[in-house]
Amino acid sequence: MSVRIEGLTAGYGRSAVLRGLDLVVAEGELLVVVGPSGCGKSTLLRVVAGLLPGTAGRVLVDGVPVRGTSRDRALVFQDDGLLPWRDALRNVELPLALRGVPRAERRVRARGWLDRVGLAGFERHLPRELSGGMRQRVQLARTLAQEPRLVLMDEPFGALDARTRSAMQELVMAVLRETGTTTIFVTHDVDEAVRLGDRVVVLGAGEVDVRREAILAAVMG
Ligand SMILES: Nc1ncnc2c1ncn2[C@@H]1O[C@H](COP(=O)(O)OP(=O)(O)OP(=O)(O)O)[C@@H](O)[C@H]1O
Ligand SMILES: [Mg+2]
Repeated sequence: MSVRIEGLTAGYGRSAVLRGLDLVVAEGELLVVVGPSGCGKSTLLRVVAGLLPGTAGRVLVDGVPVRGTSRDRALVFQDDGLLPWRDALRNVELPLALRGVPRAERRVRARGWLDRVGLAGFERHLPRELSGGMRQRVQLARTLAQEPRLVLMDEPFGALDARTRSAMQELVMAVLRETGTTTIFVTHDVDEAVRLGDRVVVLGAGEVDVRREAILAAVMG
C-alpha cells in the first residue's frame, strides 16, 4: 500500500503535536521515522492507523482517505499485548479466528509464522514462560500472520537487549522485503534507523540521508 500525508495537523485537545506534516511512503518501502521523545511519532502512527483523526490535512492510503481502522493496516506496539492465558500458538491464531479463518488453516498459518520467527517448539508456552524477546517475536508472528499490507511499528524492539534486537531487525527486514509489505517504523534509536531504513525522516526536520551523522545532526537540530 502507498501512504500520502499532506499538510497533516493532529494532536490532543487544542494542542497540535504535528503541524502541516507532509510525507510519502511508496508501496513496499520501509520508511523509518526518527525523533526525540514527545515529538509526535506515536501520534503520527495513530493517525495513519485510523485511531486518531487529524484536525487538518489528509492521510491517503492507496489514494483513499483514512477513516477509522482497517485490517489492512497493523499497528505493532512497544509492549507485546499478548493474552497471558493463551499459549503462543493461540495468541497468533486469535486475530485469524476473529476474522473467521477456519481452524485447520489458521493453525497451519500460525505454526508457520512462529517457525519463521524462530519459535518452533514454543507453540504451547504461555507468555510468562517466554523471554521478553520471545514475546516480541510472538507479537510479530501474530501481526504478520494477518498478512497486513501496511505495518506500522512503534519502537517494537525498545525493550530488547542489543543482540536480540539486531536479530529481530534482521528478521523483520527479511520478512517485510520478502512479502513486499509497506512499513513505517518509528524509533528514537539512530543506529536502528541506519540499519533498517530505505529512507529516514526526522520528524520536524524532514527527510535526511541514511547516514548516522546526517540523522544525528537532524535529531540534534
Ligand atoms: N492521549 C494523549 N492525550 C494528550 N496528550 C498526549 C496524548 N498522547 C500523547 N500526548 C502528547 O503529545 C505529544 C507527542 O506524543 P507522542 O506519543 O506522539 O510522542 P513520541 O514521539 O511517540 O514520544 P516517545 O518517543 O516518548 O514515544 C507529547 O507531548 C504528549 O504529551
Ligand atoms: Mg511514542
